[in-house]
Amino acid sequence: LQVDASNVTGRPIPETLFGIFFEEINHAGAGGLWAELVSNRGFEAGGQIIPSNIWPWSTIGNESSMYVVTDRSSCFERNKIALKMEVTCDSNGMSTNLCPSGGVGVYNPGYWGMNIEQGKKYKVVLYVRSTGDIDVSVSFTSSNGSLTLASQNIIALASEVSNWTKKEVILEANGTDNGGRLQLTTTRKGLIWFDQVSAMPLDTYKGHGFRNDLFQMMVDLKPRFIRFPGGCFVEGGWLRNAFRWKETVGAWEERPGHFGDIWNYWTDDGLGHFEFFQLAEDIGAAPVWVFNNGISHNDQVETENVMPFVQEALDGIEFARGDSNSTWGSVRAAMGHPEPFELNYVAVGNEDCDKPYYKGNYLEFYDAIKKAYLDINIISNCDGSSKPLDHHADYYDFHIYTLASNLFSMSHKFDNTPRNGPKAFVSEYAVTDTDAKNGNLLAALAEAAFLLGLEKNSDIVGMVSYAPLFVNTNNRRWMPDAIVFNSSHLYGTPSYWVQQFFTESSGASILSSTTLKGNSSSVEASAIFFQTNGKDYIQIKAVNFGGKSVNLKVEVTGLFTKFYGSKKKVLTSGSVMDENSFSNPHMIVPHETLLEMGEEDLTFVLPPHSFSSFDLLKE
Ligand code: AHR
Repeated sequence: LQVDASNVTGRPIPETLFGIFFEEINHAGAGGLWAELVSNRGFEAGGQIIPSNIWPWSTIGNESSMYVVTDRSSCFERNKIALKMEVTCDSNGMSTNLCPSGGVGVYNPGYWGMNIEQGKKYKVVLYVRSTGDIDVSVSFTSSNGSLTLASQNIIALASEVSNWTKKEVILEANGTDNGGRLQLTTTRKGLIWFDQVSAMPLDTYKGHGFRNDLFQMMVDLKPRFIRFPGGCFVEGGWLRNAFRWKETVGAWEERPGHFGDIWNYWTDDGLGHFEFFQLAEDIGAAPVWVFNNGISHNDQVETENVMPFVQEALDGIEFARGDSNSTWGSVRAAMGHPEPFELNYVAVGNEDCDKPYYKGNYLEFYDAIKKAYLDINIISNCDGSSKPLDHHADYYDFHIYTLASNLFSMSHKFDNTPRNGPKAFVSEYAVTDTDAKNGNLLAALAEAAFLLGLEKNSDIVGMVSYAPLFVNTNNRRWMPDAIVFNSSHLYGTPSYWVQQFFTESSGASILSSTTLKGNSSSVEASAIFFQTNGKDYIQIKAVNFGGKSVNLKVEVTGLFTKFYGSKKKVLTSGSVMDENSFSNPHMIVPHETLLEMGEEDLTFVLPPHSFSSFDLLKE
């Protein structure tokens, strides 16, 4: 590898080159990053026609002791469904129909079991109404209810709860079960209604509702931007099921929730428009908001009728950027963030370029947004990598899901892209299918080569993110993914760890380098210059896609050519088809060692099927 270091400040890599893409897919948010433990907390998931299915809620007790049904008596206008429970048993000594000892009621298993941990505290909030006095036990139990992990009673006189009343308890767990459930039970005869039942761990990131371990995995990638909330999730199979931001802001109790018909699950939308901006701020990444442009997978709004969608997008931008006196900025302020959020990037739809009304709709959005916010970067869905776009844009989306050998060779995809158009936003890439299975080393190595090519072409490639980021292993809608989790555990796939090799890249400088292939066409490499703690480094990254070890000789020419070895990182495994798993989460993770090398001798061994980085500290 010949590296030209004659001008270390030569070509800066964009500050925002490497980021992440968060889509509500695979229960990434609901049942994932969003720490809410209760699934279908408002009983809306079964639809608006009553009586409705209350899944995943279930009953405790049988017809001789209680009867449960939904009705439309909720005090919340946008989600009228509530749960009505008629208890016919009673445990006071006078009754001939005694309740079972644990009481009767309902339970919610959360998202394939709640992670209840000994010593941790949880806030349970619920809305209740009754025609009589109530005594409701709120408890966390083991998965079959046999073991109580935490419990408290809500006791109130009929006069207190004759109208909908909010009740709140803090439960501290005295045991651990990562398959736990929440129970609401009673041994008192009467009529009780429940609605909007929430259980949140007190320990979320800054109390903002993000599950700590998943949050940390994102932060460790040092993402410079976060694209959200989709993906196809933004489009919907039908427009009526698309993510519409106005339905996701304000008090959580008042959000209607919606059925995402693309990934086929209900979301209570606790992770809404506000929370996405909060997330971006908390991880220190620039938000990239993808909004619906009046187009779904199966229906679309003609351009002449698209103005309400344009207004919705403008309002969504005002929600983020407007001051707290503005119409939508005031809603944000009321939610606890008086200062505007930073928002400099928006994408007009997702993967819609070929749809008949895309261009027409896009131009309406483009003109209206640029008129109001000249500084906002607008991302088009149309690919400008091979031929120039026929419309204005600041970036164009580029998505690629393919086999490993193809993505490896796409390391050179942008080498000949015209330099005068908008920049590419490679907002979704991954090796998929048989080459990747659940996420293996082969996929990750091809992705490494692709990323090295993007890094080298970062004069025309402005932003890059892998997709999808998260998967709850209980509901895989897409494989592979970067981070795999269940209620209590997680691991990164090799694709996750490859991304971690690029944490120094955004804002660094790319050094011109030429790979001398020798007898190996299986190697791709790059060289960057970066500074940290007042020191100057050159970092060589190289992927060996082949099955034989390769000696990489590096020649640095230019201003400085003397180095100390600093750090070496290698990602490899016994077989390219190897994957991490819950039982072996660290089988394929980067191994970091001190880089020992002679002053003059810059020859590094690239093991078979490996990705390596070598940090050289300037003398
Ligand atoms: O990343 C999964 C899906 O792939 C995204 O929702 C979509 O944009 C693409 O087709």
